[in-house]
Amino acid sequence: MTVPQFGIFAQGTIAHSFVEFDLRPDVDMVAVAGSLRSLRQPAVSAGGVNLVVAFGSALWRALAPEHVPDGLAPFQPVAALGGHRAPASQHDLWLWINGSSRDVVFEHSRAAAAAIAEIAMVSAEQDAFVHRDSRDLTGFIDGTANPQMLDAPTTALVPDGQPGEGGSHLLAMRWIHDLAAFEKLPVAEQERVVGRTKARSVELEGDAKPPTSHIARVEISDEEGNELPIWRRSVPYGTLTEHGLYFVAFSADRPRFDRMLARMFGTDEDGRHDRLMDFSRPVGGAFYFAPSLTLLAELSR
Ligand code: HEM
Repeated sequence: MTVPQFGIFAQGTIAHSFVEFDLRPDVDMVAVAGSLRSLRQPAVSAGGVNLVVAFGSALWRALAPEHVPDGLAPFQPVAALGGHRAPASQHDLWLWINGSSRDVVFEHSRAAAAAIAEIAMVSAEQDAFVHRDSRDLTGFIDGTANPQMLDAPTTALVPDGQPGEGGSHLLAMRWIHDLAAFEKLPVAEQERVVGRTKARSVELEGDAKPPTSHIARVEISDEEGNELPIWRRSVPYGTLTEHGLYFVAFSADRPRFDRMLARMFGTDEDGRHDRLMDFSRPVGGAFYFAPSLTLLAELSR
């Protein structure tokens, strides 16, 4: 049986840290595999702290060429006609550490960075937190339409028998909100931007849900009309002067992300963009692959 990284699904922690690394020059893959050994223990989500490890396309291809899932490729910057942009901020390695308190997460993040310091240096880091009952800073609940826990693995993991089985494609994007502009809208208008009610997260029905609302843009389906979900784990971050959403989501395949992004940015054939983007802008985006725990263990042996 292929065991996934449990941290992808672990819930209930409020303190989060995302750290991205780039390989040091001239590091060989034997050294990379060796240093994974020191990350392996926390990677099983021990001591109330969860760690998820993921690799950029180039590093993963060099490390495990036989286990590259279909479609794995770096984030490409988007510059849509309407002026909406998404810059790329692709790095080699991505760690997500989360736990019950900031101090514990800080200690574990330091330990993880120290464990791989010989092969990689920190290129970007972001602290984040759970806001009230899992609300985005706009005040809307984020995660309502996430699959139920029983369906989460099918949504998030590459199916058995395919290269990279039990692993997960992941998209990480940092968005900066313009809360002042969003909060100028009456609540009913904010709800039309998102496509759900603010207090209870009830989906707007029929004509009440504009085709440019966020959920109308990101709901996609296959040829038989079955919805194609992703497993979202985004968390808010920020200070008084700069804040927003650290978007994180896992998927069994890559095209779901590409289709959702195209529909948000208006690069899809209907040319409409997601109205949420008038109030938030991405300042970084990267795709990674979070291999199964089974494969991580094999590589580090
Ligand atoms: C500023 C950035 C974003 C914010 C504030 C945001 C917020 C939200 C909120 C409030 C919901 C409704 C509640 C829920 O079902 O979770 C939602 C749903 C959703 N979002 Fe986002 N989101 C953002 C970016 C993205 C991106 C970049 C993607 C995909 C690449 C995405 C994919 C989805 C999906 C698939 C749903 C569920 C749609 C459904 O089936 O009802 N979101 N988001």
